[in-house]
Amino acid sequence: MTTALRHYLQFKDFTRDEYEHLFARTRWIKNKFKRYEPYHPMFDRTLVMIFEKASTRTRLSFEAGMHQLGGSAIYLNTRDSQLGRGEPVEDAAQVISRMSDLVMIRTFEQEVIERFAANSRVPVINGLTNEYHPCQILADIYTFIEHRGSIQGKTVAWVGDSNNVCNTWLQAAEVLDFNVHVSTPPGYEVEPERAGLYGTDHFEQYADPLDACKGADLVTTDVWTSMGFEAENEERCKAFADWCVDAEMMAVAAPEAVFMHCLPAHRGEEVTAEVIDGPQSVVWDEAENRLHVQKALMEYLVFGKRDHE
Ligand code: CP
Ligand code: NVA
Repeated sequence: MTTALRHYLQFKDFTRDEYEHLFARTRWIKNKFKRYEPYHPMFDRTLVMIFEKASTRTRLSFEAGMHQLGGSAIYLNTRDSQLGRGEPVEDAAQVISRMSDLVMIRTFEQEVIERFAANSRVPVINGLTNEYHPCQILADIYTFIEHRGSIQGKTVAWVGDSNNVCNTWLQAAEVLDFNVHVSTPPGYEVEPERAGLYGTDHFEQYADPLDACKGADLVTTDVWTSMGFEAENEERCKAFADWCVDAEMMAVAAPEAVFMHCLPAHRGEEVTAEVIDGPQSVVWDEAENRLHVQKALMEYLVFGKRDHE
């Protein structure tokens, strides 16, 4: 069966219906995996993973996921391939996509992944860019659903930098109809255009992080300095000092609120050890779910909608 070529470059590339399918499919794939039942739809298929930035979770979850689905994964980075030596991204896309069935890219500007996708014969997945991290929020929302049910109408508090992960939460709120309360230090506010938002109906900005957390169903944060912004680290550490998720913030959130962090985390900076290692934290389930949601995503991009067997 052939399906129309689709890419997953940002969260809004998929509709709500498609997310409902992906979440149902993730549950099925995860349950099968937990029962040690083999499921090998990707037999003879190859995933190429291109990393221009460091990674633990993304590499591991895509590589292990592809193997578990019966396929192979090839890791490329810019240090020891021609990608770091000025070959046009369009040429690389032509060649790589003639030898593989799926491509995952972690890079700097979103524009790079868009140019790659425009020249690719196979689906391209965003494994993090400066602007977005859609696979992370796919896992986060699946994790919320597992713990608390539907996210529709719920409130997510984002405390910290308005970075790639924050932008993706904001897009997800528009697609899946929930609200995001964002609190950033002055000068680091959300830029709706860069976040790729249709409007401002699904988010509110708060000067005080405590106000953003009031009544929230999910409190989340991320590093103060993302990859690629290391030169700003010292300045950011000063600016973000009061944007550390602590017990006081969790206490004003809803009593059943969960805490998430995409990881890697810096205890004592964006979150206290008490919170990330505390009873409301679901960070390990969140990390594990990268594996399961991405298996459903890869299956969907290669085969389209499949019914549970
Ligand atoms: N959360 C996440 O994407 O982690 P890595 O940078 O380790 O891939
Ligand atoms: N915002 C972080 C996420 C890392 C998974 C970064 O881009 O470095």
